[in-house]
Amino acid sequence: MQKITIAIDGYSSTGKSTLAKRLATALDYVYVDTGAMYRAVTLYALTNKFIGNSEDIASLIAELPNIDLKFVPNNTLGKSEMFLNGENVEKEIRTMMVSEHVSKIAAIKEVRWLLVNMQQQMGKEKGIVMDGRDIGTVVFPDAELKIFMTASPNTRATRRYKELLDRGEEVSFEEVLENVQKRDFIDSTREESPLRKAEDAIEFDNSDMGLDEQFGRIHDYTLRVIAQQ
Ligand code: DC
Repeated sequence: MQKITIAIDGYSSTGKSTLAKRLATALDYVYVDTGAMYRAVTLYALTNKFIGNSEDIASLIAELPNIDLKFVPNNTLGKSEMFLNGENVEKEIRTMMVSEHVSKIAAIKEVRWLLVNMQQQMGKEKGIVMDGRDIGTVVFPDAELKIFMTASPNTRATRRYKELLDRGEEVSFEEVLENVQKRDFIDSTREESPLRKAEDAIEFDNSDMGLDEQFGRIHDYTLRVIAQQ
């Protein structure tokens, strides 16, 4: 069967990665979570004090060639984990601290050029499911299948809140809702490749849909797209 490129974009906490991961497993495709890459650069910037109490974006940009990002498969967990300069940072990149700063880092054009280039290399051979904010518009404008995911802010914040509680973070629902809305605003109004639906993407609102139904619908649709190639 011919391999295609699948681009999944949308607002934060719409369940993109859960769906993308399951779809990639079902099709035996590679899954790439591009948000993890922006999060890892943000963690690097925080750890090295380029952002936080004071800000030195110029030095962060100068340091970009020294940032090594790798997705390393973890067979026990059945997923890949993000390694930053040889260190597993999968947990650290999901904290509220990183979420609070990531939109600022993702708006830096030099960061985007670097990461978009890496993502295009990863998807060269097709057979890939990539999720993010600009995959269908910038990274793979020729992707055979583009999905744009949406859900109400409340639904999204509830999902994110549960995730963070499960991980043992002490956060309030209001804090999470505010973060989700703030990130959406910054991500969709930034100058450099803002979050928007590609014209040829299908819009998928999953506010009132369970995981199995979401997967079932998208999987069926994907098989039809593949059959048309
Ligand atoms: O998908 P996520 O919530 O883990 O993404 C974290 C942030 O990274 C998000 O607020 C916007 C940014 N991002 C981006 O600008 N472009 C992408 N392709 C992926 C993520």
